[in-house]
Amino acid sequence: MLKGKNIVLAVCGGIAAFKAAALVSQIIQAEANVKVIMTKSAKEFITPLTFQALSRQPVYDNTFIEPDPTKIAHIDLADWADVVLVAPTTANVIAKLANGLADDMLTTTLLATKAQVYVAPAMNVNMYSHPAVLRNVETLKRDGFTFVDGSEGFLACGWTGKGRMAEPEDLLQVLKSHFTVKTRALAGKRVLITAGPTQEKVDPVRYFTNHSSGKMGYAIAQAAKDQGADVILVSGPTSLQVPEGIQVEHIISAQEMYEAAMKYYHQADIVIKAAAVADYRPSETFTQKRKKQNGDWFVGMERTIDILKTMGENKNSQILIGFAAESEHVEEYATKKLQAKNLDLIVANNILMKGAGFKGDTNVITTITKDGKKKEYPLLSKAEAAISILNDIASYMERKGNL
Ligand code: CTP
Repeated sequence: MLKGKNIVLAVCGGIAAFKAAALVSQIIQAEANVKVIMTKSAKEFITPLTFQALSRQPVYDNTFIEPDPTKIAHIDLADWADVVLVAPTTANVIAKLANGLADDMLTTTLLATKAQVYVAPAMNVNMYSHPAVLRNVETLKRDGFTFVDGSEGFLACGWTGKGRMAEPEDLLQVLKSHFTVKTRALAGKRVLITAGPTQEKVDPVRYFTNHSSGKMGYAIAQAAKDQGADVILVSGPTSLQVPEGIQVEHIISAQEMYEAAMKYYHQADIVIKAAAVADYRPSETFTQKRKKQNGDWFVGMERTIDILKTMGENKNSQILIGFAAESEHVEEYATKKLQAKNLDLIVANNILMKGAGFKGDTNVITTITKDGKKKEYPLLSKAEAAISILNDIASYMERKGNL
């Protein structure tokens, strides 16, 4: 997968720089070429010689060292890269990149490259949640950078939380997935995606909902758009920003999601139902706030319409993809759903597994297709999981002769 590929690894000044050395070794073992850029601060943590020895390439740490007069080093490096990974990435470099600054080898190269850039942040949990950093991260995401977060855990500064750099094995997986992507397989396809939870109202102040954050569906929407698909997103209430260039319909309840999704269903080539639709809603609702009363309150619940099942029953040529969040017998239950709802592919996850499920930035997925192909993935960022799902959809469509 990585054999012969040209990878630029940009290392910033953080304690996780030592993990970048392990990553270089793994990239070399995967028979790819890797050239390392170091910031001035990175050299406080690890020496260029380490990377030079591991990569068997000169290390780039000064924009003004131009050993070959026929070339300009940072442009040459920017053009050489098939992919760029910044790991670890500090808050400072995130800020510089978000503002287009170009004052060293790393920033000049990144500004000049046309290659996809992956960013693996590493910093203190409070720095990572600072509004300024979050703002810069959002800017970079809009500019097309892909963030790869590590799992939450113990940080070198003594705090526990988000900010650990992703492990070298996971970053290697990201690089591998990058090259297995059928880059523009879905270009021009009309893709309808549902995402997020639904809210089922009881009265003007109360509702039933679930823990869905919408992140998985939004990541799929972004990845499909990146492939050149024409994306319509039907979204339940989330705090996420809709990626640019995506048509969105915001809905609240399962019934509204049904109506919005069905509006687009018949024009869609591919339908991906990542939403966590409420299966039940209160059978009685109140237009005024229900005042508390003595004793208990029993709320009757009635079934909502199963949108995916209805789509499956009314399928023409659409490729239909559903999700199955299970806590046991994952494959068995997911396969049953695939058949019961007349799906082409189902994305199953065990919500009890570490790193899987609703709220986080990672997921552990298994895809199962109608023609019996099963793929199990390791822990991936939701962005990576989204690419893998789209890849599997494209392969399925190729097998069916639809691509
Ligand atoms: N779904 C839907 N409409 C509903 C409920 C679910 O379209 N009213 C879709 C979801 O978007 C998801 C898939 O169906 O793609 C989930 O299947 P479902 O059978 O609803 O899973 P669970 O709700 O977990 O069902 P169960 O309790 O049977 O496991």
